[in-house]
Amino acid sequence: METITRDDEQQHLMVDVDVIEARSKFRVRELTRDSETGVSILSRVCLDIPKGLIVGIIGPSGSGKSTLLRSLNRLWEPPAGTVFLDGRDICDLDVLSLRRKVGMLFQLPVLFEGTVADNVRYGPHLRGEKLTDTEVHKLLNLADLDSSFASKTGGALSVGQAQRVALARTLANEPEVLLLDEPTSALDPISTQNIEDAILKLKKSQGMTTIIVSHSIKQIQRIADLVCLLVNGEVVEVLKPEHLSEANHPMAQKFLELSS
Ligand SMILES: Nc1ncnc2c1ncn2[C@@H]1O[C@H](COP(=O)(O)OP(=O)(O)OP(=O)(O)O)[C@@H](O)[C@H]1O
Ligand SMILES: [Mg+2]
Repeated sequence: METITRDDEQQHLMVDVDVIEARSKFRVRELTRDSETGVSILSRVCLDIPKGLIVGIIGPSGSGKSTLLRSLNRLWEPPAGTVFLDGRDICDLDVLSLRRKVGMLFQLPVLFEGTVADNVRYGPHLRGEKLTDTEVHKLLNLADLDSSFASKTGGALSVGQAQRVALARTLANEPEVLLLDEPTSALDPISTQNIEDAILKLKKSQGMTTIIVSHSIKQIQRIADLVCLLVNGEVVEVLKPEHLSEANHPMAQKFLELSS
C-alpha cells in the first residue's frame, strides 16, 4: 500500500509545469534501505521519473546512486509498495519481464563470447526469437555503430565501442526505460559523445525514458531534462539542470564549483 501524504507529493512533483504534466514512468515512494550492519544507504527516497525524459542522478561517492538505480529493476529487491512502474508495484511483476522493460548499462561493458551480432541477438534468442541481419544492423545504428561491426568480436573493440554494443544488446530487448550507471566514466571524450548522442536519439525517436548516474555535471547539463541530487541516501534536490545554480543544498553548490 502506498503511504504518501499530499505534502510529499507536492514537494517532489512541483518542479516545472511541463514536468508535472508529463506522466510518471517510475514512482519511488518512501524507499529506505539499511545495510546489514544498520547503516542507512537510502532514506525515505521519493522520486518521480517522467515518461520520455532523461533524468540525471548526481551525488557524492557512496550516496546511494547505484543502489537506487538497482532498486528500479530489482537487482536490489526494494520493499513492496515503494517502486512503481507505470503505476504497478514492481515487486508484483515477473522479474525477467521487468528487466527486459528496464534495461541497464554499467560503467564497464561485459560482452559475451562470439561476435557483436551474437551479443545483440542474445536477449531475443533467450525468448526463442532470431533477429535478422537487418534487425541487428538497425540496433547497432541506434547505438551509433555502423553495420560493419556486426561480424567483429569483442576483443577487437575499444571500450567505447564495446559500451555501444552493450547498448545495442540492451536495446534488442525493446526496453521502455534505460538505467545507465556511469556509462561513460571509462570512455574518452569522443566515445562519451557517441553514447550521449545515442541516448538523445533514443529519447527523440522512441520516447525512451532514461535515468543516468553521472559524476559529470557537464554531461547532465548536456543531456538531462531533470537532475536529482542524492546526498547520504536522501534526495535533497530535484530540478532542471540549468537551475542547478539556484539549488539550496550546499552539496549542489559544491558540485557546480568543482565542475566549472
Ligand atoms: N550490498 C551492500 N551491503 C552493504 N553496504 C552496501 C551494499 N551496497 C552498497 N552499500 C553501501 O551503500 C552505500 C551506497 O552505495 P552505492 O554503491 O549505492 O553508492 P554510489 O552513490 O553509487 O557511489 P559511487 O559514486 O562510488 O558509485 C555505500 O556506503 C556502500 O558502501
Ligand atoms: Mg555507484
